[in-house]
Amino acid sequence: MLKYIILSIAILPFVLCDKVKMDVYIMSRCPDAAKAMRDMAAVYYDNHSAVDLRVNYIATPNGNATYGASCLHGDIECLGNIQQLCVQEKSTTDDTLDFVLCQQKKVEQIGTWLHFASCLRPLSHWQQIVRCVATDEGKKLLRKSAEYSVQHNAKTSLTFQLNGSQRCVFDQGAWKQYDEDCPGGYSVPMFSKSIKSLSVSK
Ligand SMILES: *[C@@H]1O[C@H](CO)[C@@H](O)[C@H](O)[C@H]1NC(C)=O
Ligand SMILES: *[C@@H]1O[C@H](CO)[C@@H](O)[C@H](O)[C@H]1NC(C)=O
Ligand SMILES: *[C@@H]1O[C@H](CO)[C@@H](O)[C@H](O)[C@H]1NC(C)=O
Repeated sequence: MLKYIILSIAILPFVLCDKVKMDVYIMSRCPDAAKAMRDMAAVYYDNHSAVDLRVNYIATPNGNATYGASCLHGDIECLGNIQQLCVQEKSTTDDTLDFVLCQQKKVEQIGTWLHFASCLRPLSHWQQIVRCVATDEGKKLLRKSAEYSVQHNAKTSLTFQLNGSQRCVFDQGAWKQYDEDCPGGYSVPMFSKSIKSLSVSK
């Protein structure tokens, strides 16, 4: 009996918190990603209890590369991706978003240790994050994330998906307006609406 009670208590939170999966795909040093990420944050904060947000990185897995992947904007971008992935791995979603938005205020400095340190300052567990970035843990996170982006066919920074289906793509300064890129509309209120309808139907 006790076994079942314990089991139910363990399972209950997962049943109650059936959130809509929101996958965002970016390259850390991409200026478009920085612009679109502000909209993603607005969507998240519209109802953060309804979404399970994850940031993924677009790169080509490559065992010979310094960081285990080739990044469009060079190794410094791979390092920026690793910094953001390590923060995500060790922190809440709110802290992760704050950190990414902080770094994106100076896209041209993403990947440098100085900028990393200045955005890391509010986080009390910064030492864990630095350790992750400086060891193989960070490289493995980048490798896994790059593979995930390939599997989910995300090539443009920024792409986002809801519940595993493509929702919209931001490219050359704007959300794309065609149905094949952004089924269901291309603005923050329309994105929130999709999340609402997905959470209701669950
Ligand atoms: C936020 O999401 C939760 C969980 O899906 C839902 O129960 C709640 O009604 C939503 N709140 C608003 C204001 O949309
Ligand atoms: C990695 O390096 C080896 C040896 O130099 C080479 O044969 C291989 O093609 C390289 N792989 C990639 C993905 O560049
Ligand atoms: C979410 O995706 C799964 C698998 O693709 C699908 O079976 C399910 O119906 C989707 N949920 C909603 C609410 O659309």
